[in-house]
Amino acid sequence: MLTYTPPMGWNSWNTFGANISDKLVRESADALVDLGFKDAGYNYVVIDDCWSKLERDENGRLAADEEKFPYGMKALSDYVHSKGLKFGMYSCCGVRTCANYPGSFEHEFVDAQTFADWGVDFLKYDFCYKPERANGELLYRRMSMALRATGRDILLSACNWGLDNSGPWMRSAGANMYRSTGDIVDNFQSIKDIALSQVDKLCYGAPGCFNDMDMLVVGMYGKGNVGLGGCNDAEYRSHFALWCMFNSPLMIGCDIRTLTKESAELLKNKGLISINQNPDCRPPFVANSVDKHYAFARQLSNNEYAVGFFNMDETEGEVYCLLSDVGLTQDSGYAFEMTDVMTGEQLGMFREFCHPKIGAHDCKVYKGKLVKI
Ligand code: GLA
Repeated sequence: MLTYTPPMGWNSWNTFGANISDKLVRESADALVDLGFKDAGYNYVVIDDCWSKLERDENGRLAADEEKFPYGMKALSDYVHSKGLKFGMYSCCGVRTCANYPGSFEHEFVDAQTFADWGVDFLKYDFCYKPERANGELLYRRMSMALRATGRDILLSACNWGLDNSGPWMRSAGANMYRSTGDIVDNFQSIKDIALSQVDKLCYGAPGCFNDMDMLVVGMYGKGNVGLGGCNDAEYRSHFALWCMFNSPLMIGCDIRTLTKESAELLKNKGLISINQNPDCRPPFVANSVDKHYAFARQLSNNEYAVGFFNMDETEGEVYCLLSDVGLTQDSGYAFEMTDVMTGEQLGMFREFCHPKIGAHDCKVYKGKLVKI
């Protein structure tokens, strides 16, 4: 299976939009390896929209923009593979892509073959310019079949923004991850809206097909294609912790070549990534929600639990979680031995509740081992 746990990688869109090139992709692949992101689990390098010529070539095939990609896509894919990484590209189920380049509608089989010939391992497949008469679910099934028909393992990253109530059918249509929200922008309101919109949809994500909450904006600080406002480090912490707790794919969206130390460390935080990649892949539940304070908890493998405390309010406050809401009763003879996931600090035994003090828009994530007392 291609997607036993949520896919991880880098995608060009959030920061670079149409401003992409062979050089950018090679340098980003180099940075993924040199700065330790590949070792942390990020292995897909994905070129989003705006990579092709404005029209198909004389054989009806998609063709790379020669100014942006002078050596062609196969050479670039070979380079990415030579770094031990996987290569991703983008198309759209409509007649044009969202940025108005040729889409794959009624060219699915020939385009899938083109991608396979270029050594593509991941296809993000968008939803713009879909003819009214065409059924979106069928178009995703069709591209999934076309990719499978090439004989190459190509992960299908569907991107219909959760429209047409896609949660219940994306898995059967063949997607390996599916955008279950609209587009993210780089501010806390967007992060919060996306996260809260997912709470009752997380049941659709599991090995084989995960809810995709969109590419990360961590480290953008307001710069780039979707850099509308920017976030501070506390807000990026909450963003990354939410995406990890919620089993979302982790696709870095900033310029990794110039990332700050804080953002690089956050994106490589072993504890948070281990929750996101936990083999049990269980979704979280809301253990507590009072005003703008949320505690999300989830079961992990090996008798462990994660509890994420999120303060979405504008002022510092204590975020409560009653451990009985996670399942622990007072007379059970058990307690949680808690560790702060981001700092590694050992917090001791907890039996009744946790209520860490948390700054505005910040969070804490605890991992609890259930132990007999
Ligand atoms: C849509 C997608 C984005 C991005 C753009 C590219 O808006 O949701 O993630 O791929 O198209 O044009």
